[in-house]
Amino acid sequence: MIAPAHDVHILGTGSYTPSHVLTNQDLEAMVDTSDEWIVTRTGIRERRIADPDTPSSFLASEAAKRALDDAGVSAKELDQIIVGTVTGDRIFPSTGCSVQDILGASNAYAFDVSAACAGWMYGLQIGRDAVRAGTAKTVLVIGVESLSKIVNWTDRNTCVLFGDAAGAVVLRSRGEPGGILATRVHSDGSLVHLLEMPAGGSLMPPSHLTVERQLHVIHMSGNDVFKHAVRAMQAVALEVLEAAGKKAEDLALLVPHQANLRIIEATAHRLGVPMEKVFVNLDKYGNTSSASIPLALDEARRSGRIQKGDLVAMVTFGGGFTWAGAVVQF
Ligand SMILES: CC(C)(COP(=O)(O)OP(=O)(O)OC[C@H]1O[C@@H](n2cnc3c(N)ncnc32)[C@H](O)[C@@H]1OP(=O)(O)O)[C@@H](O)C(=O)NCCC(=O)NCCS
Repeated sequence: MIAPAHDVHILGTGSYTPSHVLTNQDLEAMVDTSDEWIVTRTGIRERRIADPDTPSSFLASEAAKRALDDAGVSAKELDQIIVGTVTGDRIFPSTGCSVQDILGASNAYAFDVSAACAGWMYGLQIGRDAVRAGTAKTVLVIGVESLSKIVNWTDRNTCVLFGDAAGAVVLRSRGEPGGILATRVHSDGSLVHLLEMPAGGSLMPPSHLTVERQLHVIHMSGNDVFKHAVRAMQAVALEVLEAAGKKAEDLALLVPHQANLRIIEATAHRLGVPMEKVFVNLDKYGNTSSASIPLALDEARRSGRIQKGDLVAMVTFGGGFTWAGAVVQF
């Protein structure tokens, strides 16, 4: 059965964060930084860090179990599992396949999406389209990152920003209007070098030299990313609201990518959305890339910030350069 255009709903949400907390004070002992610098420049106070031997598939499947439970859906009912990640268990096979195995989702097919911080949002559109097209009935979309594994812990420019987490949603048609009203995704490949992990792939295969030169960690041009991020978040928010036939003032909540409080505030200001209507949790988790929005969405729902019928917009940006937005009627 092909679902009507506006009938693919988020049935349930779930998230998981590792228990180990790394505070700004802890970082003061590791690099030349201060709690004051990190809080004023980013808004981040602490982040969660997974154990060295805990893979992304574990974080992802814990979030997925909570989303399935929230949706009242069993793993066997899943047709499609999409995992947005740039820190999967291995380069191949996909982390999606590992998650499928852990969940026992034997009727699904699984794959990963690589779109950096926009990975989950790309997955949301792909999953929504699959339900609309009738090629899947029930879809699990996960965002997961173990960024602590690819951060240079001696580089103060990047190591203070990132954390580990997973978030997940279950999508299905509900036979009633609402749900995911519109999505928009974009990329600009001319900006790949703004934010990258240079080595480890076919461009620069791993070698002693690539390890010595610290090329298996995040390299970022922070200022350039900042400028592109604010422009992209505003543009895609306006574009996706228009596609949904809505205005910024109709929103009950804006759930932006949690990278930097100043980027979030600038975006909200440009859209004319008051900060009371903006969900922020980056103070607790830092930037968790693809996990950021589904984690925030889950916390917003479970804390009562999103009620049935509420109109919610989500906007994100990331390496690639990628950016995306979605408008959902809960
Ligand atoms: C990274 C970011 C927080 C830096 O903030 P900023 O206000 O742009 O700061 P600047 O890059 O201008 O650096 C200012 C100074 O602070 C220093 N600095 C950088 N990190 C620091 C830290 N953790 N502690 C103390 N000082 C630091 C810099 O070395 C620089 O010093 P200098 O002037 O002596 O060279 C900001 O650019 C940002 O958030 N960019 C977007 C990053 C992002 O979102 N990435 C993920 C995309 S999904």
